[in-house]
Amino acid sequence: MTQKGILAFSGGLDTSVVVKYLQEEYDMDVITVTVDVGQGDDPKKIAAKAKKLGAKKHYNIDARKEFAEKFIFPSIKANALYQKKYCLATALARPLIAEKVLEIAKKEKVTALAHGCSGKGNDQVRFDITFRSGSDLPIIAPIRDKNLDRETELKFAEKHGIQIDTVAKKFSIDQNLWGRAIEGGVLEDPYNEPPDDVFIWVKTKNLPDTPTYLEITFEKGVPVEVDGKKLDALKLIEYINKKAGASGVGIVDHIEDRVVGIKSREVYETPAATCLIEAHQDLEKMVHTKHQNKFKSLIDDEWAYLVYSGLWQDPLKKNLDGFIESSQRTVSGTVRLKLFKGNLRVVGRKSLQSIYSYEMATYGIGSTFDQRMAKGFVELWGLQSTEANKLQRKWSKKT
Ligand code: ARG
Repeated sequence: MTQKGILAFSGGLDTSVVVKYLQEEYDMDVITVTVDVGQGDDPKKIAAKAKKLGAKKHYNIDARKEFAEKFIFPSIKANALYQKKYCLATALARPLIAEKVLEIAKKEKVTALAHGCSGKGNDQVRFDITFRSGSDLPIIAPIRDKNLDRETELKFAEKHGIQIDTVAKKFSIDQNLWGRAIEGGVLEDPYNEPPDDVFIWVKTKNLPDTPTYLEITFEKGVPVEVDGKKLDALKLIEYINKKAGASGVGIVDHIEDRVVGIKSREVYETPAATCLIEAHQDLEKMVHTKHQNKFKSLIDDEWAYLVYSGLWQDPLKKNLDGFIESSQRTVSGTVRLKLFKGNLRVVGRKSLQSIYSYEMATYGIGSTFDQRMAKGFVELWGLQSTEANKLQRKWSKKT
């Protein structure tokens, strides 16, 4: 009986090559699934590509809303930035894509699950673990299993008449609603500045000479309104991506520690993520106590680490979700951001849940804070530190 494999298909170099590999080397019928998480591709073109490659059946699933509400929004609540920089755009999308592929796999009664990830990246981890968490079917990853490199893939693609666009030949790009990741080519020398033409979302030249403001309102940690307009998740993210991108905001360039141990140079365009996380985090500082702020940043870091590392399904992630969700009860209010020539700055925030008190903070007349209370407090606060130093002084005099 012919084997039937299902493949998460983007229409890019890797997954196109994999369709042919599955047919030729693994003797399989292939079902392709494209899960739209905001890649911005034309679903008809991808379907045509799949057909041309000989896929027996092709599915296109529009998961953008689900991606925004169930994956991106929780990441905003967690201020999720892996290694303080990367908003997890690709990392968040993978478990959703893999889950959707699994759903169809069950319906189609396939005999194997396939993906186009290499053995060097993080995506294999995310796909494998999501697949394994929901199914016992064998997992096939030809790029990894056959140790293929990009040059070999490009040659293979040419031989099989697979068309690859020119940008994809120069760089490896992954794009969705939350961000655009650019790797490879000249960027592999970490000292090379990314050429301007790698950026599509963020303007790098002729930036406006006047600042732009962005006003974001959150309700229980979820952004619900921008610049006075109530927008659904999808529109809200698209709106901010556009507006912040036009002001040159949202480029991230950093050295990243991959799950498999490799250090990689990653370049991202993430205007909406940059603004929303900055604004959300700022609002939290106003409505949370200092103890909540200190503790939550540990939880946030762990959340980002787990999600980056492909452990979306780990019970610990759910446990952390519980904490994060309960912390968002008071995270409602509005934050004002100023965007100017690639810079982003919070310039205002307000909230009915604010713990900030003008009466307490003011240096002016009418303050309700009695400074005299502070004297005793400081003595006790520094008690052990000053005692330790006193002792040091005593011993150093003796020796
Ligand atoms: N380093 C990021 C991650 O692991 C992005 C990877 C993007 N993939 C790509 N082919 N450019 O999530």
